[in-house]
Amino acid sequence: MTVCEYRAGLEGVPATQSSISFVDGQKGILEYRGIPIQELAEKSTFLETAYLLIWNELPNAEDLGTFETEIRYHRRLKYRIRDMMKCFPESGHPMDALQACAAALGLFYSRRALDDPAYIRAAVVRLLAKVPTMVAAFQLMRKGNDPVQPRDDLGYAANFLYMLNEQEPDPLAAHIFDVCLTLHAEHTINASTFSAMVTASTLTDPYAVIASAVGTLAGPLHGGAAEEVILMLEEIGSVENVRPYLEHCMEHKTKIMGFGHRVYKVKDPRAIILQQLAEQLFDKFGQDKYYDIAVEMEHVVAEKLGHRGIYPNVDFYSGLVYRKLGIPTDLFTPVFAISRTAGWLAHWKEQLAENRIFRPTQIYTGLHSAPYVPIEQR
Ligand code: CMC
Repeated sequence: MTVCEYRAGLEGVPATQSSISFVDGQKGILEYRGIPIQELAEKSTFLETAYLLIWNELPNAEDLGTFETEIRYHRRLKYRIRDMMKCFPESGHPMDALQACAAALGLFYSRRALDDPAYIRAAVVRLLAKVPTMVAAFQLMRKGNDPVQPRDDLGYAANFLYMLNEQEPDPLAAHIFDVCLTLHAEHTINASTFSAMVTASTLTDPYAVIASAVGTLAGPLHGGAAEEVILMLEEIGSVENVRPYLEHCMEHKTKIMGFGHRVYKVKDPRAIILQQLAEQLFDKFGQDKYYDIAVEMEHVVAEKLGHRGIYPNVDFYSGLVYRKLGIPTDLFTPVFAISRTAGWLAHWKEQLAENRIFRPTQIYTGLHSAPYVPIEQR
């Protein structure tokens, strides 16, 4: 069967059947395994949510405890991975470092037993456990410091902030970061998830699947947007400059980072929660002038582009939250990757359950029977 209509960006073309998450972009609904994101943000932890996404049920207390223990046990990096990271240039982007490290894990765990639930579980645990350690380790190493060893007495989110900032985080900061991880954990068939699924469909190893997804997430139209938002807020500099800046963007048809979404035509439900989290953080740890600029931007964009369904997406407020948590701007996307690893793994597992290699078609627009011109005549 050939579907002849070409849709740029595959807009509206179903690429799979999935029961992992659901988005209603008109109503602003996001559900993981049927559970509204607001409920998970309020009641669940990131690891509990990851378990739900990957194994299709909320774990009971015992299963969650076992899962958390396994993850704690696997947080440390092999010294060879650390040595490899020492060779990376400090000026390199942390997403490139993460992609290389995720791929390198495949060197150590090369046995491919994709029909063995124990292999699947071990890969899930290793990736969820080690991705945060790799992100934090690269951050310290590029500053010339030794990486901080993970701490077994700290939960997933608190341990990451500890490894990154070299001090134990405030419990509210750790809780808010955990909620951020939950909010970013999964989002149907976006570009990086699609990339993960295509890679998974070749039956390659899960480390290649995650490395492929990390590479795709890195672009500014996808996970890289949160970083761009902060750069944009810094460039705007004051609330008074918001309107002229946005009018200039609209006149020159420049995309406003952190706004717009292929699916959501209302404010992204995750942006609503992230804005509340940002306010909680600022109340406790001090205000951020960029927040006022962001709120004014949201107001002006709604006035000018709201009728076209362009509203804040998940990346608009997340950067402000991350900054307050002490996360450097160029680590926003790696932090997104830490969280989205859960969703990618869920799709990897779902893809394997009913696998068929992706092999779409194309509409050829080139020549036929073209002459071969000898090199001396070109
Ligand atoms: N600022 C100004 N105009 C916009 C924006 C924006 N942020 N987003 C969409 N539009 C306009 C766009 O110019 C186009 O107008 P026209 O029809 O006149 O050419 C129309 O809306 C449709 O935009 P599109 O780029 O064709 O829509 P898309 O579905 O292909 O792209 C998007 C979606 C998210 C890539 C896009 O909205 C965008 O580039 N936003 C800025 C980058 C960003 O914030 N990305 C994060 C996305 S959410 C998290 C994630 O996926 O990682």
